[in-house]
Amino acid sequence: MAKNITSEVARRRTFAIISHPDAGKTTLTEKLLYFAGAIHIAGSVKSRKAQRHAASDWMEIEQQRGISVASSVMQMDYRDCVINLLDTPGHQDFSEDTYRVLTAVDAALMVIDAANGIEPQTERLLQVCRSRGTPIITFINKMDREAQEPLDLIDEIESHLEMEAIPINWPVGMGRNFKGVYSLADDELQVYVPGEADRDTQNERLPGLDNADSQQRFGSEFEQAGEEIELVQTAVDDFDKEAFLQARQTPVFFGSALNNFGVQEILDALVDWAPAPGARDALQREVQPTEEKFTGMVFKVQANMDPAHRDRVAFVRVSSGHFNRGMRLHVVRSKREIRPNNVVTFLSQRRERLDEAYAGDIIGIPNHGLLQLGDVLTEGEDLQFTGLPFFAPELFQAVEVRDPLRTKQLRTGLTQLGEEGAIQVFRPHLSSGTILLGAVGQLQFEVVAQRLKNEYSVDAQFSPSRYQMARWVTSDDPDALQRFIEQQAGNIAYDVVDAVAFLASSPAQLRVAQDLHPAIEFHSLREHSGHIFGEPAA
Ligand code: G4P
Repeated sequence: MAKNITSEVARRRTFAIISHPDAGKTTLTEKLLYFAGAIHIAGSVKSRKAQRHAASDWMEIEQQRGISVASSVMQMDYRDCVINLLDTPGHQDFSEDTYRVLTAVDAALMVIDAANGIEPQTERLLQVCRSRGTPIITFINKMDREAQEPLDLIDEIESHLEMEAIPINWPVGMGRNFKGVYSLADDELQVYVPGEADRDTQNERLPGLDNADSQQRFGSEFEQAGEEIELVQTAVDDFDKEAFLQARQTPVFFGSALNNFGVQEILDALVDWAPAPGARDALQREVQPTEEKFTGMVFKVQANMDPAHRDRVAFVRVSSGHFNRGMRLHVVRSKREIRPNNVVTFLSQRRERLDEAYAGDIIGIPNHGLLQLGDVLTEGEDLQFTGLPFFAPELFQAVEVRDPLRTKQLRTGLTQLGEEGAIQVFRPHLSSGTILLGAVGQLQFEVVAQRLKNEYSVDAQFSPSRYQMARWVTSDDPDALQRFIEQQAGNIAYDVVDAVAFLASSPAQLRVAQDLHPAIEFHSLREHSGHIFGEPAA
């Protein structure tokens, strides 16, 4: 029998971890799992990451570049909560996948390298969080190395996030002289000890700033930190949980993931402050997480997660109700029933069979193309969730197959990769034989080329395209839209769901088209559900 849905939902926390490569996301993830007791020895996530690289062909690119292309999901129990952690790839050429992961979470944890501050790649992810009003917890990592001045880091966070950065603790010293962090709320210094302290070991804590012993032990670092803290205490507001939930404040923690320092505080912040799963908007109505009936949406589809299981896994964020293994689910788009028996959850990359899930949980349903990105699963209701974005591509390439006898395989491969959201596939209005690929990051093309080769035995040839931007077009007046398509025939293409797009080779060309056709609306974002269009809020 289902446990009490309300209490199960209340104890869920679902968040994404975002950072620039090398800031320490993998290390922190591993330490979070370790402190939650989900893994017993630190090091296993990293080594599994390495294994995954070695085992999976199309991830060769990832391996070569030392970046993580595929995002993943992990679940852990901490205190009385169930925490779902979603990893996001943070490299420069990231794909749209990253954005979509952010639609499946209720909060984000931003990891910053204390020496580098916020870097451009993270900026784009933050834009998505901002436009969705996602609450963000900030962890400034690597305080055991030479770092930027903490006050400068706080400033930088405020200006990038456009929200107040509220230090929860303050570093005393840095690099070789890192002495610890002072908790502003508890008025005590947690003394830093290098090395991977056991999760049961309590760090030494010393009360107050006005502490002669600390002054003597930690000298000028302690004095300087004291001055900074005084400044912070007068200039910065107190942490306000409501303001955090409304994405007006981000709590900031300093620490060192590698040294197990400041990690537990993050878990506590997630439990104490991060929101439980909230309501989700559908076209028909708002869906409450505590409703009896199961609903969920596929926000990510990934092939070849594990070479031992050659299948695709649809990642479903549960929006409401209770999922139990063997229940019948209605796929709203295709009107088909599925009865997934081997639904999986992901505990530090290991597939585990899942028996039940509640709102906020992510379940993985292995399938062979039955489930697509944006698909809604219900117990029968026709529901379409909104908010899963497709972004107007900024990079285009034409694709052909070197061996014309493999054209069919190319089309099959591209259709499937398009459905997965790995790339956007456009069919030009005039020369329907050509296939255009659109991406938001260059790496997407490379991943697609490699996957076509490995999974579909297609040697595809990419060539540059004159297009630089795409806008999906709609109009309240169907005749006006038809006239626009005819007049602009050379610049019109259809995407994988046959939505009409206008392709431009320069921003000027787009502007001219907009000026000449006031009856046409141009959209940089397409939502999955029923071809609804929207613009980012920010
Ligand atoms: P990422 O997932 O964000 O890309 O970063 P990852 O955790 O892989 O960390 C990047 C590098 O930073 C790693 O070193 C890691 O050990 C180091 N690192 C993480 N946290 C800290 C910290 O608190 N202090 C210090 N000093 N270093 C930290 P690497 O040499 O690239 O990898 P490895 O050989 O140690 O695995």
